[in-house]
Amino acid sequence: MPEKILILDFGSQYTQLIARRVRELNVYCEIYPYNNVPALTADVKGVILSGSPCSVRDAEHPTINLDQYLGKLPVLGVCYGAQLIAHESKGEVTPSTIREYGRARLSELHNANRLMKELTPGSVVWMSHGDTIKEVPDNFEIIASTETVRVAAYKLRDQETYGIQFHPEVTHSDEGKTLLRNFVVHICECQQDWTSDQFVDATVADLKQQLDNDKVVLGLSGGVDSSVAAMLIHHAIGKNLFCIFVDNGLLRKDEFENVLDSYKHMGLNVKGVDAKAKFYEALAGLTDPEAKRKAIGRVFIEVFDEEAHKIEDVKWLAQGTIYPDVIESLSVKGPSATIKSHHNVGGLPDFMKLKVVEPLKTLFKDEVRLVGKTLHIDDAILGRHPFPGPGLAIRIMGDITPEKVNVLQQVDHIFISNLKKSGLYDDVWQAGAILTPLQSVGVMGDERTYENVVALRAVSSIDGMTADWSRLPYEFLADVSNEIINKVKGVNRVVYDISSKPPATIEWE
Ligand code: XMP
Repeated sequence: MPEKILILDFGSQYTQLIARRVRELNVYCEIYPYNNVPALTADVKGVILSGSPCSVRDAEHPTINLDQYLGKLPVLGVCYGAQLIAHESKGEVTPSTIREYGRARLSELHNANRLMKELTPGSVVWMSHGDTIKEVPDNFEIIASTETVRVAAYKLRDQETYGIQFHPEVTHSDEGKTLLRNFVVHICECQQDWTSDQFVDATVADLKQQLDNDKVVLGLSGGVDSSVAAMLIHHAIGKNLFCIFVDNGLLRKDEFENVLDSYKHMGLNVKGVDAKAKFYEALAGLTDPEAKRKAIGRVFIEVFDEEAHKIEDVKWLAQGTIYPDVIESLSVKGPSATIKSHHNVGGLPDFMKLKVVEPLKTLFKDEVRLVGKTLHIDDAILGRHPFPGPGLAIRIMGDITPEKVNVLQQVDHIFISNLKKSGLYDDVWQAGAILTPLQSVGVMGDERTYENVVALRAVSSIDGMTADWSRLPYEFLADVSNEIINKVKGVNRVVYDISSKPPATIEWE
């Protein structure tokens, strides 16, 4: 087991960011909701208490038994976490008299204190709190202030317990990373040996032991997560990993063939299954986006189940679940309401009764990419934009026909290959084209046309939760539009989507 930092989540929007920053220091950490924390083990080197939208002054405020941590190992309270320690130690937490939100500058820094080492006076920190710590007990030493917040950071004199009123995890805090390094490296004495090389070695060794000679089935999607999960397991058990890659007829142009080829080159034992007809049949006449999603989910499960049954004696189902999915399902707020039913199905098919192996479940997305690089997975797979499971079906508004899929594939291909050619692909988080049900009048030569309108969508984003439309150069858009209208029969107008999320979503359906 690698040494680790525990992060107790009290519901702050920034909790995941704390974990990201700690991991960037090559130190492993895990997030747990404050009310569901496992007992301490010897590999835990320190604890961070997160922020929270709650107030310690509320009767029902979230709390924990601090005695199990304070004085026993290093603890860092961030914002609410700091207020909680102060409050439980009989300090005084009061509502802020002025709004403390945004940038502030540190002053009266105690650089001799290990948490404040190498921080510079005047350093900008990010404040976001409605309460402030007004008084601290005698055994607290104030180690930094700001112009308006006297207790910006404190230490308990007789133990390695610290509190900070600001958020070191957000990039607006100039030296936040230095502070976190001071805590995890100098105070908790973590070794900083959590690297992707080390992860690959340890995970492959664990998988060998866990899976032994068992057979494992895995559904590949062409995306980063399933590909990296497959390669890790492949390194552990080779041909006993059976990969299934389904052509649902809703992939990008030539994607099925190209990706299948890459997988074979990577040495994976992969079977490509052409199930286009089944998907088109199930989608025929469906126009409601949710109905389309459900039909696709249902057929996928049927196809996958049928294929999995062909593998004799299979014991495990491998999945590319990543850490944000795990945190989400455990989070303080509980699984967030599903706005779109990604894979809604009734009844449990046989393969879902297999034991589940999820080798990426402790990794964030960018860490999955690093592991993929360590495993020498093709950049074309690792750098790929996200692509929704229901594929082009939710980019064709209205009912789906193979002809419409063909038109959209051509449009999408022109857009994406031009993004790649002009070096813009990696600047965009996700891009694609939408086939609208609208027809518009045009002229081509001497003739009037009455053909489809397609929309192009390209967005910048961090995680798809929020997004902004990409400011692609006009010249680029002009070239792409020309090429589409000239080459794709059935399209005579191209528009560019300039909506951000929220309030719009990335996909149109
Ligand atoms: P929205 O449209 O909700 O998309 O802003 C956010 C991200 O989720 C992807 N997406 C899906 N992925 N099944 C998926 O696997 C779906 O039904 C689905 N709907 C949206 C979308 O492509 C974007 O990356």
